[in-house]
This record gives sequence, structure tokens and C-alpha cells, in this order.
Amino acid sequence: MSREEIERLQRLREAARAGGGPERIAAQHARGKLTARERVELLLDDGSFEEMDAFVTHRCGNFGMAEQRIPGDGCVTGTGTVDGRRVAVYSQDFTVFGGSLSEANASKICKVMDLAMKIGIPVVGLNDSGGARIQEGVVSLGGYSDLFLRNTLASGVVPQISAILGPCAGGAVYSPALTDFVFMVEGTSTMHITGPDVVQAVTHQKVSSEELGGARVHAERSGVCHFDCASEPECLLQIRELLGYLPLNNAEEPPRVDSGDPADRDCPELDELVPEAPDQPYDMHRVLQAILDEGRFLEVHERFARNLLVGFGRIEGRVVGILANQPAVLAGVLDIDASVKGARFVRFCDAFNIPVLTFEDVPGFLPGVEQEHGGIIRHGAKLLYAYCEATVPKLTVITRKAYGGAYCVLSSKHIRGDYNVAWPGAEIAVMGADGAVRIIFRKEIESAADPAARERELREEYRERFANPYTAAERGYVDDVILPRETRRRLARALRLLETKRDRNPAKKHGCIPL
Ligand code: HXC
Repeated sequence: MSREEIERLQRLREAARAGGGPERIAAQHARGKLTARERVELLLDDGSFEEMDAFVTHRCGNFGMAEQRIPGDGCVTGTGTVDGRRVAVYSQDFTVFGGSLSEANASKICKVMDLAMKIGIPVVGLNDSGGARIQEGVVSLGGYSDLFLRNTLASGVVPQISAILGPCAGGAVYSPALTDFVFMVEGTSTMHITGPDVVQAVTHQKVSSEELGGARVHAERSGVCHFDCASEPECLLQIRELLGYLPLNNAEEPPRVDSGDPADRDCPELDELVPEAPDQPYDMHRVLQAILDEGRFLEVHERFARNLLVGFGRIEGRVVGILANQPAVLAGVLDIDASVKGARFVRFCDAFNIPVLTFEDVPGFLPGVEQEHGGIIRHGAKLLYAYCEATVPKLTVITRKAYGGAYCVLSSKHIRGDYNVAWPGAEIAVMGADGAVRIIFRKEIESAADPAARERELREEYRERFANPYTAAERGYVDDVILPRETRRRLARALRLLETKRDRNPAKKHGCIPL
């Protein structure tokens, strides 16, 4: 090898590392943002990154572009490891044409995604992009379409995670939207299909970029964002944590990690947790803290539809996907947002062999004009469909109320629940005593000498008959009634038992989930 050959390689490598140059890198840092390479380094295990296509350049000759070719063309792609497990990654470089998507860097992303599909490893996309590269016209739109197709085909085969780490506009939001989890960083990342200027021109509404599509808005209101983080390093660390719960692909099991927390540990604190009065709130997080290994719960969609908690944890080292009504928010009722949030989570777990564990304390679906007109029927059906369709082990603990349609929906025995138990104070009925008595005994109450006293009596009678878990247990609709303190060890045992569960849905191209 000649000295010239070595120097040429070094020059190209340095040019690729330099990205858009020191000034743009300084501007990136001044905004509290890292560079594409710094992000990859923080995401992956030290020294594990194997870069691909660092010498690829764009092929555009328009608007003086021919003179501005930067090796790598504004996107760093390759593979590496997270906690020793393989992962594919791409990271858009905002210092090169605003991280915009070109024909060339789109083909780099497609190449690394194709590799991920071939070998069965997750894809993490670190997005920081002004969208389609304007100078390239339709060619860059073609690049986006190539990406969207791959996102869709990879869905349910390998986990796909997107971090939004800058202003992402146009096509730059739709690829992340097709992936399984979207992370954003408060103050620096935004997502919108059109920016504030277009919004003002079309609707005459004045809105800032942050108000329109900042992390808080997407985490709380739209539900586009699953994890909103305080900083980029925190975001990248959280992606590492999430990957720890996921299998590499849909043919593998999620990684089992035994923390040493004894599976047969009693949780006496749970015996006193649920208040006697059925309308008194309590925090379902405390149930999860008590039951999960080391009390660890990685909450997904923490700020969105807070009446339903979803996230990952482990019991005896086995990963479980948890859905839990939150009585502390809107009494844990199921509304449109909670239904959609839950349905998406169940489907993800089912696609990736993660058992679904449900903690149920639900007064039903939320009544009201707004909900009905918003399509609670259509959206609630998504959750029902997702639970019915799921073939992974399904475990349910009814901690208090299981009323009405929500009883059926939340992994009931009838829709192939594998392990359904209730705590002794559970109420499993068509509806609560107050409403039920007013409907079925209206005439009797009205004609009573003392209507209020008669209503009280009838309510007591109803509670005695229905507001307990034993009517359901008599029919085998719950497998057992257990003490709250026993819950962890009973679930550990059930998960052990169900480890070899095999179940199949009828052969079909795909179902028609009511989207
Ligand atoms: C080419 C772009 C670019 C783009 C930004 N740049 N966006 N170059 N194509 N799409 C370049 C700028 O010219 C600038 O180059 C550098 O990136 C940084 O951009 P600034 O505007 O200086 O940065 P900032 O003020 O932070 O604003 C960032 C931004 C803004 C909000 C992303 O640049 C912007 O609005 N860009 C256009 C967004 C957009 O409308 N994209 C097309 C969407 S349509 P220099 O050389 O000065 O550093 C789309 C279609 C796909 O994506 C649809 C599929 C469904």
C-alpha cells in the first residue's frame, strides 16, 4: 500500500467526520444539540459502532450542489451493540443541508434497514432533518417513499425506534410515525407536517413551532410521542433501557434478566392499598412497584391518556407488557385516547412475544356526547380487537372494579385470557350498584313508602349479589380469588407455566382492525 493511498483514505474519513464543518457543529452545540456521531456514540456500547457508507455522496447537480459534496451526505449509518446486543442505527446530520433527505442518504438508510431485516435486529433512527432535500425535487420524495415501505414491511418483524432530536418537518415525521416508539427532547425537538408559517397562512392561527409540535404537545395531547426526555443524553439512555426489554426480532423471546428479586416474595403492602369505598382513588403505580422485579416499571406514553398505564417490567426476570387502569386519573375510565393507547401497546407486545399483564380497576367506557361523537365505539373496538387477536400469554388481575364492556375487553377469560384472577374486594358486574338499582328498580323505588331507604336496601342487595368476585368465580370466569399479597408469586408461577403457550389465529392475509 502506498503512502498516497493511506493519505487519501484518511482525508476522506476526516471529511466524513467533519460533516458540515466546525461553524455548523458549533451552532448545533449552541442549541443544546449533539452531532450525529456524538449521538451514535452515546447510544451504542463503547467502540462497538461499525460505520457503513461513510463515502457515499449525493448525485445532485442542481443549484450549485455539485460543488458541495460531503462524504456520508448528512447521514451516519451502521451497526453496533447495546448491552452487547446488536442494533442497526442511522443518525441524520443537521450540519449537512439541514439533515435533509437526499436520494443518496435515503439509499443508505434503506441499506441498513434491509440488513437489519435480513439478520433480525432492531433499527434505531436518530432524526434531525428539514425533510425532503429541496434541491433534489421528486428524487428525494422517492427516497422517503422507499423508507416508508421499509418501515411498514419491518413493522412487527424487528422493533423500530425513532428519536426526534431537532426540527423534523414534512417527510421527516412520517417515517418515525410508522415506527413503534417515538422519543422527543423537550426544548429542541419538534414534529409537524407543516410549520407555523403555513399554519398561519392557511388557518390565520399564530402559533410557535414548540406550541405546534414540541415534545410536551406530542407527549400529552397528540400521543405521537411515547417518551419525552429532558435532554439528548437522557433520551439516548432511555432508548438503551427500552431495547433491554425487547427481543431482537419477532422470532425471538425478550431477554430474560434475573435481578435476584425473589419470585415468591409476599407484597403485604397491597392488602391495605385499595380503599374500601369503591369511588375512592388510589395510585396503580404502587401496585406495579410492589409486584414487578425491583419495583421497576418503564412507562410508555406516560403523559398521554394517564387513565391507563402501559409499559414494561419483569417478573422473575421475564419481560411483561403491562396495561393497568389508573383509578387516580378519571377513575381509570376507558376513553378514546386510552383505548387507542392500549390497543397499540397490546399489538406491539403480541407481535414481539411479550406476555400481556393487565391490572383491572375500571368503571367502564366514558359516557358523554364528546366521546360518542369522537368515535368511542370505533376506538374502543380497537382495544377489544387487539386483546381478542393477541396470542401471547394473557394474564389479568382484577384489583377492584370490572364493569360492563370494559370487563369483556380487558383480557377476559372469554377472549382467551389465560390466567384471570381477582382480589377479594373485586366487583365484577354489568355496572355499579347505584346505576343498576336506579334502572332495574325505578318503579319499585318510586312507589316505596320511603324511596331513599328502599333504594339503599336494594343497593345493598345488589352489592351482595354482584359486587364481589364470586359470581364470576362460580362460573370459572376468573380462575381464582387471591390475596393481594400473593399476587407476585402467583403471577410468577403463571408466567412460568405459560412459557410454552402456543396459540394461532385462523389463516388470513390480515384482519381488518377498525382503524
Ligand atoms: C435542503 C435544507 C432543508 C431542506 C434545511 N436546509 N432544510 N436544505 N433541503 N429541506 C438547510 C438550510 O438551507 C440551511 O443551510 C441548513 O439546512 C439549516 O437550516 P436553517 O433554516 O438555517 O435552520 P433552522 O433555522 O434551524 O430551521 C430548520 C428548519 C428549516 C425548521 C428545518 O430549515 C425549514 O423549515 N426547512 C424546510 C422544511 C421543509 O419544508 N421541508 C420540506 C418538507 S416537504 P445552510 O447552508 O444555510 O447551513 C417533505 C415532503 C415529504 O418533506 C412528504 C412525504 C410524506
